[in-house]
Amino acid sequence: MPTRPYVIDEMISAKTIAARIEDLAREIHDAFEGTDKLVVVGLLRGSFVFIADLVRELDLPVEVDFLEASSYGDGTESSREVKIMKDLRGQIGGRDVLLVEDIVDTGFTLKHVVGLLKARKPAHMKTIALLNKQSRREVDINADWVGFEIPDEFVVGYGIDFAQRNRNLPYIGKVRFT
Ligand code: IMP
Repeated sequence: MPTRPYVIDEMISAKTIAARIEDLAREIHDAFEGTDKLVVVGLLRGSFVFIADLVRELDLPVEVDFLEASSYGDGTESSREVKIMKDLRGQIGGRDVLLVEDIVDTGFTLKHVVGLLKARKPAHMKTIALLNKQSRREVDINADWVGFEIPDEFVVGYGIDFAQRNRNLPYIGKVRFT
């Protein structure tokens, strides 16, 4: 449970997110056109809404798999130590992979997971993040596609939580402590 009271100010509306996902899906379609073996890998839990909307805009044969990495615990600061809590069910060797992340913040999570998946020798791997906090980056990694660049704010909604709350908001909002 969050310990301090807070309110959520809308930052990116549901409509804006939907429009951006249509554009991203077109770009991803062009990048993977012709593939018969795309595996869309969602990084749990924050990407579950994003991946659901994204795959429904993708007119490609896709499989969906999930990986869970540890993140912030109940706070608003990254632990910088990435642990895999749940691995993929399927094999990705020789396949085209699109890794879907909710937010790239310090970059530790994306870097760790990309390393882990590349070691399994996919044919091609691309990454997409709904949100990017470039000013917070501590390691050298960037997603191939980014939905929105955002400032250094703690955000929730559209799958993203604060201490497991607020994932069900249809928009992205920033947390403001009161
Ligand atoms: P990184 O390893 O520091 O890049 O952190 C990435 C993960 O931290 C994301 O997948 C989120 O789960 C979590 N995270 C980063 N920023 C926020 C935020 O503003 N709100 C909620 N979770 C966040």
